[in-house]
Amino acid sequence: MERLKILVTGGAGYIGSHTVRLLLSQGHDVTVVDNLSKGHRHNVPPERLYELDVRETAALAELMRRKQTDAVVHFAAFIAVGESMREPERYFANNVGGSLSLLTAMVETGVKRIVFSSTAAVYGNPYTSPILEDFPIHAVNPYGESKVMTETMLHWFDAIHQVRSVALRYFNASGADPAGDLGEEHEPETHLIPLVFRAISSGQPVTVFGNDYPTPDGTCIRDYIHVNDLAQAHILAVEHLMRGGESDRFNVGTGTGHSVLEVIRAVEEVTGRKVPYTIGERREGDPPSLVAASDKLKNQLGWNPQYPGLGAIVEHAWRFSEKHQFA
Ligand code: UFG
Repeated sequence: MERLKILVTGGAGYIGSHTVRLLLSQGHDVTVVDNLSKGHRHNVPPERLYELDVRETAALAELMRRKQTDAVVHFAAFIAVGESMREPERYFANNVGGSLSLLTAMVETGVKRIVFSSTAAVYGNPYTSPILEDFPIHAVNPYGESKVMTETMLHWFDAIHQVRSVALRYFNASGADPAGDLGEEHEPETHLIPLVFRAISSGQPVTVFGNDYPTPDGTCIRDYIHVNDLAQAHILAVEHLMRGGESDRFNVGTGTGHSVLEVIRAVEEVTGRKVPYTIGERREGDPPSLVAASDKLKNQLGWNPQYPGLGAIVEHAWRFSEKHQFA
């Protein structure tokens, strides 16, 4: 595909920065917008970064006009489910308000294509597995609801303003760039794999949130997807839209689930270190199993994940973590 001018919001964050790197490696012209409230300056080439909040509509529109943006990839959002249950106002203001501001700036400047960072949390507590894209939407926390609301806005901006969109519903983004210099740096960290690494380095056990779920070993099952495979999905989605493709939504997962204990075992295998862990209470709101049906993305956009197992995910995440914790 020809060289595209892509504006990436939240491009200094975890998934955003991996996507920016891949877009740049494929020769695209990338502009990153990030207010650095969660993202990291060191994740992005400095000349690409514009320190801006997506809620600053006029500044965003000015930047899009100046950069002659072809398409937007929209990551900027808060992501912590637990926090969203305590402070829903922040999630609606930042995630929904931010998306509305961005869409408004797009309409103002005639930018008609957007790839949106959505989540499996839009399905709530699904009773089937694997989950197809037409499974009923029913968020069970404000974080998931903020993504549902943005998907709903996308629908109306398509119907009324012809803004074409692809919503990518991520399952469990994990892993790191194999180069070892880009990875997951959330603060506070809530995700399983980095917390398991911290347990190894600190000797303080990680808590397994419940072992009485209706799953083979009693611990929750998730679909862990390598962040670079996730990044690839964004590029395919942009290309789909640039070809004149219709608005759509896709799961991004591998179709295979792994339990918490399987993740711990995979970490022990890759690192050769013992993981100290204890079994604790269930974490509120955790569905027993979340596994994607991923055929739609494969069949319709030609997505072909390079790292479909836990091995590479854990190995690459460990490489990054070693550089940052133990260097
Ligand atoms: N877990 C533990 N102990 C921990 C942390 C996690 O046992 O200390 C377990 C959880 O209970 C869950 C699994 O490990 O079963 C994965 O938990 P994460 O917090 O890493 O990820 P989640 O599946 O809860 O959430 C992820 C994203 C959310 C998104 C959700 C949608 O982080 O943003 O997937 O599927 F909403």
